[in-house]
Amino acid sequence: MASLATRGKWSSRLGFILAAAGSAIGLGNIWRFPYTAGQYGGGAFILLYLVFVAAIGIPVLLAELSMGRNTERNAVGAFKALMPGSWWPWVGGLGVVTGFGILSFYSVIAGWTLYYAWESMIGKFGHRLDAAESGAILSDMTSDGGVMVFLTGLFLLLTALVVRRGVSAGIERTVKVLMPVFFAVLLILVVRSVTLPGASEGLSFLFSFDLSKLADPAAIGSALGQALFSLSIGMGAMITYGSYLSRDENLPGAGVTVAIFDTAIALVAGLMIFPAVFAMGGSPAAGPGLVFVTMPTVFGQMPAGGLIAFAFYALLAIAALTSTISLLEVIVAYFVDEKGWSRERATWSMTAACFALAIPSALSNGAVPFLTEMPGGGFLGLCNIVFGNWFLSIGAVFICLFVGWKWGVGKALAEMARGGGELPIGQVWGVMVRYVCPAAVLAVLIYSAITGRYL
Ligand code: PHE
Repeated sequence: MASLATRGKWSSRLGFILAAAGSAIGLGNIWRFPYTAGQYGGGAFILLYLVFVAAIGIPVLLAELSMGRNTERNAVGAFKALMPGSWWPWVGGLGVVTGFGILSFYSVIAGWTLYYAWESMIGKFGHRLDAAESGAILSDMTSDGGVMVFLTGLFLLLTALVVRRGVSAGIERTVKVLMPVFFAVLLILVVRSVTLPGASEGLSFLFSFDLSKLADPAAIGSALGQALFSLSIGMGAMITYGSYLSRDENLPGAGVTVAIFDTAIALVAGLMIFPAVFAMGGSPAAGPGLVFVTMPTVFGQMPAGGLIAFAFYALLAIAALTSTISLLEVIVAYFVDEKGWSRERATWSMTAACFALAIPSALSNGAVPFLTEMPGGGFLGLCNIVFGNWFLSIGAVFICLFVGWKWGVGKALAEMARGGGELPIGQVWGVMVRYVCPAAVLAVLIYSAITGRYL
């Protein structure tokens, strides 16, 4: 077992917030959120998403952070420390498996962002493209197995190079550079997008609430899955990141800050994408291809479009990297704490294992039609749904039950209060974690299983 002293720690509150926000803010915000919101009609879906973030996401996030900080252990070790000899550590094990699963398909999409950033740099996106031409660029890339495997491996390698250096010298140092760059580039892109002539249609798409759109049962499951995915909860990433948080920090304050950041960035990503899509006559409902097929046609019509395209895909790559780092860290922390492996050994062997698992995803997108019907279509789509929605939901239910009923609301609240930041509505939080969150997540899971529409 790694001794507590050698596990690593965030050197400051800001370091934790940037790392946790970096984990939360990712392809989920800029790729998955806009296309999902686009598919389910915009405003109403977003409203539901916000309700899930507030009512389920934040309570679960605080539960995970408290478990992590209290035990100073990884996803499995935290359960072990609080309930030794029980089957609960398997919930943490499910989290580690989920981390593998998400990291495997996520690095494939992250690899696409590198390709697109590169292609924009060499001038592929600075001129007019129609949807067919743009689709062809994507399908040329995805059908080239060698390129796909290379890009996936490259992204995993970048991730490993950070994680191997540890918590403060690797992760914290990297996010302290990347997150400010991310915010600056995002700001520039949003201003560009909302000042385009015709942008207001995109804004009304985002902010008009047509509740009838929520009649589609898939919308509800997707909104919940997206809330968990986007906040990086339900698999122990926040247990792990919380375990490096100092006892003197205000835990609820830091946790809520991260959730607000993440949600704001998803909305801002919508502000960046939809006005541009509408201004340039694209379809908001393009699905997973929205960012990779529709956006290049948009960039092609903008002044300095090539440069903007580069900034956009570089932004996606940065967002993805700070998230893959946290996914790998969940796995590495488990092997370091529980198996006594060196960080170096855990990082490289688990990166290699994840690379192997990622290969079917990297090779599964031979054709663009697959992209428009991605959920369930192809191995990557399957992993996105199974790991990125189902497993996170199952994990979230168990984490709530554990904290609410086994470890106990009182102890969790005491942990939160330890850094001087008592949760103001502690009793409400307790009711949410004991009853509302597990029941709601379970209800959505069952409903989705019955209707067969949990996308
Ligand atoms: N939250 C990340 C995103 O939105 C994805 C992620 C999920 C990262 C789970 C870590 C754990 O892109």
